[in-house]
Amino acid sequence: MENRTFFIETYGCQMNFADSEIVNSILAERGLSHAEEPETADVIFINTCSIRDNAERRVWDRLKYFRSVRRNRRKEGKDQVVGVLGCMAERIREKFLEKEKLVDLVVGPDAYRDIPRLLDEVTDGRKAVNVLLSLEETYADITPVRTTGNGVSAFVSIMRGCDNMCSFCVVPFTRGRERSRDAESILGEIRDLSERGYKEVTLLGQNVNSYSAEGVSFADLMYRASLIDPEMRIRFSTSHPKDFPDDLLRVIHEQNNICKYIHIPAQSGNSDVLKRMRRPYTREGYLSLIDNMRTLIPDVSLSTDIITGFCGETEEQHQDTMSLMANVEYDLAYMFAYSERERTLAHRKYEDDIPEEVKKRRLSEIIEQQMAIQEKNNLKEIGERHLVLVEGTSKRSDEQLCGRTDTNKMVIFDRKDFEPGDYVEVEITGSSSATLRARPVKKSSITEFYNQTVTA
Ligand code: SAH
Ligand code: SF4
Ligand code: F3S
Repeated sequence: MENRTFFIETYGCQMNFADSEIVNSILAERGLSHAEEPETADVIFINTCSIRDNAERRVWDRLKYFRSVRRNRRKEGKDQVVGVLGCMAERIREKFLEKEKLVDLVVGPDAYRDIPRLLDEVTDGRKAVNVLLSLEETYADITPVRTTGNGVSAFVSIMRGCDNMCSFCVVPFTRGRERSRDAESILGEIRDLSERGYKEVTLLGQNVNSYSAEGVSFADLMYRASLIDPEMRIRFSTSHPKDFPDDLLRVIHEQNNICKYIHIPAQSGNSDVLKRMRRPYTREGYLSLIDNMRTLIPDVSLSTDIITGFCGETEEQHQDTMSLMANVEYDLAYMFAYSERERTLAHRKYEDDIPEEVKKRRLSEIIEQQMAIQEKNNLKEIGERHLVLVEGTSKRSDEQLCGRTDTNKMVIFDRKDFEPGDYVEVEITGSSSATLRARPVKKSSITEFYNQTVTA
């Protein structure tokens, strides 16, 4: 086992990226080392996503590419093992093992501790599988090897699985039952990150506001997390509109280091569609939640997820989604055409009856409207002061840095003497629908920036 190298390629949501860091840690513990690229690795893992058909298709393409990599390596007398991790492992394990010998190892999201043993099995030319889902596994005691976030920002998983069973969604089948990680291990991980110089953590779960562990609610957890280091930003993702209590909104408002940004997926703006989606709220209920958020956190920034062309969606119902989005004026939206998934309630109960071109046309309509809204919202930012946490060098130029505002907007400004991990006060000078440009004013801190804002 020792001396072997591994490479992990990750698709899907932030949870998957966080999981890859856990797998990294499990493998490092066993003495495997990290390879820079799949071509030179003894073991290639692909951590997969099943959420939509195109996410799965991308993985199949990569697996075919890995097959050619492996053939080349075999010519040089070196073997290579290919393993599938994550949500697709759960969904289509048989197909992986049978189809064209693409894969040697299949491991579901709750079985990562078993990877070293499974790898030993594969070494004898056999295939190995563990896709058991668990009611308890939270990997609480495993310290992830951080591969994302540039030493500035880290993901902290606080719960796994999902019990919501939205009718379109495959996640409850791929990730199993909802379970919360104990609060002490979460807070310990955040403390450790703060000591190692991290400036931002994002608490992750499929619906973090259902977090509950030994009497600790999500609002309690956020409050306690915010006290660990006043210079550490706390973000969270994703929250579900069904249970967003006022005490949580108050904590977000009151603690300077909790970011005023809430991702609150609506999915649709029509109550009948929401009912068929098994989202337990109506259009009106959702809108009044948004009002409440804006009352309790006046400067809050909001984003959403939307699906177009769900089973039976009429043109009128699509217009309701358009008007909901126009009404809320989100700062960001992730928008998708409905993709039918096996095993879900929608697959069993409803017909996927909206033609692909109609789904796509509706999708372009909401995207176009959303881009105009973002452009307008961002234009209003010109002249405003923000505190930006520097994440790294801008993609466009080495002379520029990029980082996000508290409200999660990407800002680009001149490098000067600033470095990743610095908090910089900036004045916004320009904008597009996706990013803001700014003039850096000075290096600052959360404590300094918010105290001066209050007294100004
Ligand atoms: N737990 C999160 C969502 C995770 S999946 C939540 O409930 O908010 C991310 C997004 O993918 C969903 O919000 C939804 O908009 C989209 N999605 C999920 N299943 C889909 C499907 N079958 N077709 C298209 N989009 C889907
Ligand atoms: Fe899927 Fe709904 Fe759970 Fe989100 S809350 S992961 S959309 S079932
Ligand atoms: Fe995809 Fe699984 Fe996340 S299906 S979106 S990787 S939970």
